[in-house]
Amino acid sequence: MRAITIAEPGGPERLVWAEVPDPAVGPGEVLIEVAATAVNRADILQRMGFYTPPPGASHYPGLECSGRIAEVGAGVTGFVPGDEVCALLAGGGYAQRVAVPAGQVAPLPKGLSMTEAGGLMETVCTVWSNVFLLAGLSAGDTFLVHGGSSGIGTTAVQLAHQLGARVVVTAGSAAKLQACRDLGADVLVNYREEDFVERVREATDGRGVDVILDNMGAAYLDRNVQALAVGGRLMIIGLQGGVKGEVNLGTLLTKRASVTATTLRARPTEEKAEIVAAARDAVWPLIEAGRFRVVVDRVLPVEAAAEAHRIVEDSGHVGKVLLDVAAAGGG
Ligand SMILES: NC(=O)c1ccc[n+]([C@@H]2O[C@H](COP(=O)([O-])OP(=O)(O)OC[C@H]3O[C@@H](n4cnc5c(N)ncnc54)[C@H](OP(=O)(O)O)[C@@H]3O)[C@@H](O)[C@H]2O)c1
Repeated sequence: MRAITIAEPGGPERLVWAEVPDPAVGPGEVLIEVAATAVNRADILQRMGFYTPPPGASHYPGLECSGRIAEVGAGVTGFVPGDEVCALLAGGGYAQRVAVPAGQVAPLPKGLSMTEAGGLMETVCTVWSNVFLLAGLSAGDTFLVHGGSSGIGTTAVQLAHQLGARVVVTAGSAAKLQACRDLGADVLVNYREEDFVERVREATDGRGVDVILDNMGAAYLDRNVQALAVGGRLMIIGLQGGVKGEVNLGTLLTKRASVTATTLRARPTEEKAEIVAAARDAVWPLIEAGRFRVVVDRVLPVEAAAEAHRIVEDSGHVGKVLLDVAAAGGG
């Protein structure tokens, strides 16, 4: 098969579509003939050499895919060759075939094309596990998501809005904020021009927000805690603003608030399977009812993965940049 390989860590030009050995299907796994995958921020870090895949994971980038089951490993029930599926991967999505534990695979939801579904699983599972399973966002709560127009952001805005929360977003331009508004965001904050803590105070009559989904880490840590309501939950999933920060523990204590940081990729297979099952139960009905979609910025052929990485690195996108693998030659 062919896959995007990273010969050496570095810039986008290091991504090369090359002939590689086929993956073997282990017990409890399925082999997927990949139709589409998507660029996630983590793929860029991996390309640069800052994010080593977890033990046992494929070394090719790609944390999600859609496609058809080509083979079923020993002990797998519920899937047969030919089934149309999408999957949460620990790596290996930028390839023509990938082996994945069956618990991380879900049927293609009705209402999404095969290509769109290539950008569904990583963001839906990340948002569902953090915002809903861990932080318990509920109808009537106020939710702040930073980077509201990102792949993660466009997923979080839609899910929180559809499930009855009031949504505050930050983004770096008027056009991106408008995209968030179109998806259901209620309060728009341009992080280049405004202080989000002030805007949260104004928008909540000084109460603060119940849950924050944060991609900035250290740079926003103290301000995020200031923006929380009593009993608020700060969920850190990205470290774009650094890893070491200072927080006023007095504020945290007085608010009886919590700070949690998680990563999905390194979780054990059983935990990922639980998240996939929960996300499927909650989100597939919304997709089928036309209340949630994958926001697609553009679709590029997988051979143009370097260009796709440049676009995402420069934040020139809204939603997901998808990679079409089905159309690629040389399998
Ligand atoms: N822990 C996990 O399991 C997990 C899983 C998936 C993703 N993530 C993390 O989630 C984040 C989003 O991932 P993605 O793939 O959706 O990335 P993405 O599409 O590349 O988005 C990155 C976002 O960061 C925003 N941003 C940059 N500077 C900002 C600032 N000062 N304040 C607020 N937002 C700012 C950008 O906003 P503008 O374009 O408006 O500037 C952009 O929307 C990344 O940090 C990623 O590492 C974590």
